Amino acid sequence: MEIERVQEIASLSNLKGTIPSAFIRLENEQPATTTIHGVVLEVPVIDVSNSDHQSLVASISEASKSWGIFQVVNHGIPNELISKLQKVGKEFFELPQEEKEVIAKPIGYEGVEGYGTKLQKEVEGKKGWVDHLFHRVWPPSAINYQFWPKNPPSYRETNEQYVQSLIPVADKLLGLLSQGLGLEDGEMKQGLGGEDLIYMLKINYYPPCPCPELALGVVPHTDMSSITILVPNEVQGLQVFKDDHWYDVAYIPNALIVHIGDQIEILSNGKYKSVYHRTTVNKEKTRMSWPMFLEPPPEFEVGPIPKLITQDNPAKFKTKKYKDYVYCKLNKLPQ
Ligand code: SIN
Ligand code: FE2
Repeated sequence: MEIERVQEIASLSNLKGTIPSAFIRLENEQPATTTIHGVVLEVPVIDVSNSDHQSLVASISEASKSWGIFQVVNHGIPNELISKLQKVGKEFFELPQEEKEVIAKPIGYEGVEGYGTKLQKEVEGKKGWVDHLFHRVWPPSAINYQFWPKNPPSYRETNEQYVQSLIPVADKLLGLLSQGLGLEDGEMKQGLGGEDLIYMLKINYYPPCPCPELALGVVPHTDMSSITILVPNEVQGLQVFKDDHWYDVAYIPNALIVHIGDQIEILSNGKYKSVYHRTTVNKEKTRMSWPMFLEPPPEFEVGPIPKLITQDNPAKFKTKKYKDYVYCKLNKLPQ
């Protein structure tokens, strides 16, 4: 069975300004009719170098309660390293198709890793205008190098450097999120599996789309992860749902975009909110993004942190293995 990649469809010259009907969203989903135009939303900005610790805790906590998304500046990851990460990822997607297929997710393979295109049917069998690559990058025991590009040759070293510089930032963010709930620094991370927390990298590749007003990249969702730390390329496309409407998010160059995911919402017993978001595509330009999902190990049980549960504030979520949470969400079963 040959899987058709969106990148290949996009390169067909006979598209002549049209797209296959599977990519045309229902009217109530189309970005043209559902986006608030002319407003670019500025999500909260968290300066993690702020030496006023209390104000830093307060700002990240407020952002996570009312937005579920924020941008992190002065994070200490060199801009050149982020550029290198973007360069090697782009070079992989620009390889000839057959070279990318070498690390395709095998058909029938249970895991999510590998190069691919979402096959799962969405609303009315519609498809997103996007291909992807998933592979774990941390901890070493979770890595399957068979899903890492061999080309460009510096891909591996660059991704290893990126995760090494991201880990301290992630630890800091999880510590601040803990403190924002009156917990000890390490409690949130412990509730996610501690040092076994898995860093899963995704690269999204959204080729130019002849009809961006009718199509979507990634459909509306909240991330299943604890937090997601994302860098985009320079092409606009991330949208968040705020006060019942979809808005474009303003990017700050070299900032990290952080999404609060479902596992943090659960741990915090609903105090922190996972953000509902989606992506749009561009008529002329290729959009790319590099979300890093921080996920509990599959067998690890996640539930509201016991200290946060009181008689007045009972548990709002079940405690369950992360793999069971994922299974229910992907199969649209009750949690
Ligand atoms: C995603 O939510 O998976 C994609 C986000 C993005 O491309 O900015
Ligand atoms: Fe997402």
